[in-house]
Amino acid sequence: MVTSYGPGLAAIGMVLVAERYARQGLGRRLMRHVLAEAGDTPLTLYATANGQPLYEQLGFTETSRSEMVRGRFTFTAPAPAVPVRPATAEDLPAILRLDHEIFGLDRTHMITRLPAFSDHLRVAEDGGEIIGFAAAWPNMDTHVIGPLIARDPGTAQALIASLAAATDRPLRTDIDVRHTSLLSWAKENGIDTIATTSVMVRSLPDLPGDWRRRFAPLTVAAG
Ligand SMILES: CC(C)(COP(=O)(O)OP(=O)(O)OC[C@H]1O[C@@H](n2cnc3c(N)ncnc32)[C@H](O)[C@@H]1OP(=O)(O)O)[C@@H](O)C(=O)NCCC(=O)NCCS
Repeated sequence: MVTSYGPGLAAIGMVLVAERYARQGLGRRLMRHVLAEAGDTPLTLYATANGQPLYEQLGFTETSRSEMVRGRFTFTAPAPAVPVRPATAEDLPAILRLDHEIFGLDRTHMITRLPAFSDHLRVAEDGGEIIGFAAAWPNMDTHVIGPLIARDPGTAQALIASLAAATDRPLRTDIDVRHTSLLSWAKENGIDTIATTSVMVRSLPDLPGDWRRRFAPLTVAAG
């Protein structure tokens, strides 16, 4: 699956080869096709340990790592009292502006689909200004939190706690390992690491935008 963000970036995801066809060159063939189609467009992906050697051979380099965390939220460690509420249609322009600033590219075509794709979409506010937003979308038995965009780790915590209160399902999300304080808070609340992936880029030194305020991707498949 290739998700285009214009000439600045495309994200690759859902690279899967059936086990009975493994190690016969299918993964490499699929990836070469994507690279040929992409031309000069920089690419990014979240690589599992299985996929990473192939992507390295094809010119991808690691820019960061990400922890996939999962569990039932226990509400043990409190979140700061940042006001969080369900998003409304009127919030959309402000959400898009904040997302563009922090993701670094225009994701209008993806973000405008979030209200239908997700079960919950929440915004954090400070004095009437939107300072963060997050969605929870259903996947198998979990709710996956993503995107998670926030001014600071405390706002990210408030958004996660608010989404946790809205669901009975276990939560899953993917948090950049550089967000150490958010990761330890999540673990205190029963959300633990189940896998680590490598955030890789090709034809650009690093992802655009501001990783400090980007806490989780929309999905690992779409960046
Ligand atoms: C990763 C995956 C897509 C590779 O597909 P594939 O068709 O088996 O890969 P290829 O046959 O094209 O192999 C390409 C290279 O990748 C590396 N590779 C593939 N599978 C590997 C494995 N199990 N262990 C170590 N290296 C592996 C090898 O370097 C291989 O080259 P070689 O066979 O010439 O040594 C496939 O194993 C898969 O679907 N895994 C589960 C899902 C997954 O992890 N997807 C990646 C998401 S980012």
